[in-house]
Amino acid sequence: MLSVNDINVYYGAIHALKGLSFHVEEGEIVSLIGANGAGKTTAMHTVSGLLRSKTGDITFMGESIEKMEPHRIVRLGLAQVPEGRRVFSNLTVQENLQMGAYIRPATQSREVDRDLELVFKRFPRLKERRRQQAGTLSGGEQQMLAIGRALMSRPKMMLLDEPSMGLSPILVQEIFSCIREVNESGTTILLVEQNAKMALSISNRAYVLETGSIILKGKSSELLDNEQVRRAYLGA
Ligand SMILES: Nc1ncnc2c1ncn2[C@@H]1O[C@H](COP(=O)(O)OP(=O)(O)O)[C@@H](O)[C@H]1O
Ligand SMILES: [Mg+2]
Repeated sequence: MLSVNDINVYYGAIHALKGLSFHVEEGEIVSLIGANGAGKTTAMHTVSGLLRSKTGDITFMGESIEKMEPHRIVRLGLAQVPEGRRVFSNLTVQENLQMGAYIRPATQSREVDRDLELVFKRFPRLKERRRQQAGTLSGGEQQMLAIGRALMSRPKMMLLDEPSMGLSPILVQEIFSCIREVNESGTTILLVEQNAKMALSISNRAYVLETGSIILKGKSSELLDNEQVRRAYLGA
């Protein structure tokens, strides 16, 4: 479904991604794990069209997207939930969700209303707070809102950048079970995480990123048992 081949991304003289390649098949949850600064966000932003690679190619559903404008990539069915959630603090919960549907034509307004109700059904806490300003939500609720907002574009694939960041262990569990439900209802997931343990426990396959390159890849269940992964990322 998503295929990233040999991308090299620079910030001026800094070579942030070094010949990175990975792929995600339809229906999977794939995680990209790595320490702070490994290049995870850079990889996300390159897939979603916010950063450009000097080399290689990226295809989504058979279409080449490495030169495509970010909004067109969203329209193809690839939605991003950015690091740090980035909800619109001064807008209400409901307005934030409606913003997620901005790529959909006005003729779909009834479907958009229906999808809004589906998001509220999935996240009852957002429904209770639908008229509350997003900036006043707790961290976990803002993460739910960011996921709900991405769902409003009806994505085929969702990219999530560190959804566990800054959340208590119990909220992390809750967010990860939401992610699993989103996947079970048909959305393919690419998950970027520093929290290797959680990411490996939820994903089918994973890639380990270190200073811009993949150093290990495989089934998540096998990586959980891998000695190198355990020592470097699981503290065991
Ligand atoms: N805007 C930027 N300008 C210069 N260097 C950057 C910028 N963003 C990230 N980097 C550098 O690129 C590398 C990868 O960063 P990033 O993709 O944010 O890592 P991660 O998300 O895994 O923590 C780091 O060395 C970081 O310092
Ligand atoms: Mg990051």
